[in-house]
Amino acid sequence: MDKKTYYITTPIYYPSAKLHIGNTYTTVAADALARFKRLTGYDVMLLTGTDEHGQKIQRLAEGKGVKPKVYVDEIVAGIKDLWSMMNISYDKFIRTTDDYHVKAVQDIFKKLYDQGDIYKDSYEGWYCTPCESFWTETQLVNGNCPDCGRPVEKAKEEAYFFKMSKYAPKLIEYIESHPEFIQPESRKNEMINNFLKPGLQDLCVSRTSFDWGIPVTFDEKHVIYVWIDALANYITALGYGNENTDLYNKYWPADVHLVGKDILRFHTIYWPIMLMALGIPLPKQVFGHGWLLVDGGKMSKSKGNVVDPVVLVNHFGADPVRYYLLREIPFGADGLFNNEIFIKKINSDLANDLGNLLSRTCAMVEKYFGGTISAPIAKEDIDDELIRLALETPKKVEKSIDDLRIPEALDSIWELIGRANKYIDETTPWILAKDESKKERLGTVLYNLAEALRFASVCISAFLPETSEKINKQLNVDVTTWDSLAAFDGTQAGTKVNKGELLFPRIDINEKIAELNKLKEEQADASKKVEIQQIKEEITIDDFEKIDLRVVKVLSCEPVKGANKLLKLKVDLGGEERQVVSGIAKYYKPEDLVGKYVVLVANLKPVTLRGETSQGMILAASTEDDSKLFTVSIPGELPTGSVVR
Ligand code: ME8
Ligand code: MG
Repeated sequence: MDKKTYYITTPIYYPSAKLHIGNTYTTVAADALARFKRLTGYDVMLLTGTDEHGQKIQRLAEGKGVKPKVYVDEIVAGIKDLWSMMNISYDKFIRTTDDYHVKAVQDIFKKLYDQGDIYKDSYEGWYCTPCESFWTETQLVNGNCPDCGRPVEKAKEEAYFFKMSKYAPKLIEYIESHPEFIQPESRKNEMINNFLKPGLQDLCVSRTSFDWGIPVTFDEKHVIYVWIDALANYITALGYGNENTDLYNKYWPADVHLVGKDILRFHTIYWPIMLMALGIPLPKQVFGHGWLLVDGGKMSKSKGNVVDPVVLVNHFGADPVRYYLLREIPFGADGLFNNEIFIKKINSDLANDLGNLLSRTCAMVEKYFGGTISAPIAKEDIDDELIRLALETPKKVEKSIDDLRIPEALDSIWELIGRANKYIDETTPWILAKDESKKERLGTVLYNLAEALRFASVCISAFLPETSEKINKQLNVDVTTWDSLAAFDGTQAGTKVNKGELLFPRIDINEKIAELNKLKEEQADASKKVEIQQIKEEITIDDFEKIDLRVVKVLSCEPVKGANKLLKLKVDLGGEERQVVSGIAKYYKPEDLVGKYVVLVANLKPVTLRGETSQGMILAASTEDDSKLFTVSIPGELPTGSVVR
């Protein structure tokens, strides 16, 4: 009989920056699930990849002065390295710049257009480039993106639209009649009440204001909206839209799309509607996990609190990082990453509970039996509890994973480990060893410990694959199948143990944290250096002299009505009064600017912004992501109109 299949996906990542521990979380969780399903007999497909098109990537590449493909190639290589460091056992890595994907997306777009689900019109509204998402005026929160809170920009262009509205009733009905479709449950209600019930607008699905995307074949100045392109990866990766559709036939519909809660909307509204329109069955489940927070809240480059998984793996190994993410973060809710808690968990759960159990067991087998495991021929009642718990553990783990309750699966395994440690205290092997007549009993106790460790090792192999291998090597385990956990007898009497290094040496918390902090400072300094933008093309002094820079004094300043980014300034330019409109409202209160001496580009052609004339531009410097901005100001008083050169 063919094996049951299990198709699980991670989101495909924007190659926009190095991945942080939060991004790593999704993929580690998906990997644990995939490994567990393989272990329990499924034919698994784990898909991950990169989402390489769109305005955000194009701009980042421009900022670095390189072609987008060159820019993404380097980052994608880094992402693949990270997955190999984390032992991610993906079966396929899709890049949305791969030819087969591009072709399939073009065909999908054409098909939807031909059948009348996509039509041409014009778009006028707001766009959040970091999220790559469209918003209407009323959806904005304080004029910013309602999802990420960052500034949005106006988009007005000819565009194609997808008739989402047509499918909304069918989708609501589907979600309501398939309670398992959106998980956790709370997120389902959010999708229905916040997005579907208020009425779904048709979605803008093409852009013309930049070109880093998949061209619409029948209208080449349009590129396909990056989310349409990205979502399709889940089927194009299997060959949908190409010649060989074997994988598609075998694995679709997906068993679970694992995504962060921020992108659940795209996966539970746009994606199912696309599929409905294409006549394709919907994925069985979309699971939205929570947010990984650090002490200062959300991670961000500007706060400088981004946790780099590569640093963690270099210092602690992949399994401790995997362990923390899988056990400490409630799956489905937000969780905290903190170095101190992390190290404490390594010391208590990994070094003490698991590591010591293994080293004590191996040491005793060596000391009392020359390294050979005895047959369990002197059983006592006290063994039953340990054996019963060992036999129950795989079932509990399997049930937890079936319900996507990953931390609970680990709780059960650690319960067994804890029980085995207690068994050592109860049976006191060192006392048995003093009495030659207890030799068989001692051998049986050590057998039971070795066998309990085998159970633990097989169970953790999906979560901590390297550790499981190390345990197997030290105990010389050769029966590692899931089915072998049906009986407490997989360890062979006569097996030689190979006591090796400690699985997890104890870590000195203070020392390690100091080391990590120092490294963080060094990295921050280094990243300041690499992030300097490419210097523009060379100009002559004559070119420069064309720009007339002057000192002006700010006389008054007020917000521009209906434009929350803009301030309207009156400035004094050597006795002449000028009005300047400047996009700095996010950084300055009007009253903070009054009286300041700043630098004006005085001979810039006047423009009208939001109905207000702007005669010139105020110079300012900002970070690349615009999180900080300062005007260029003159520290003392100079006659207004003074030339800056
Ligand atoms: O959204 N904690 O890509 P992405 C937990 N390209 N998860 C986090 C996180 C955090 N602090 N920060 C990010 C995209 N993530 C799209 C996906 S799929 C067709 C297209 C998660 O690189 C985030 O929720 O911005 C998402 O699941 C994943 O990292 C990739 O985010
Ligand atoms: Mg994101």
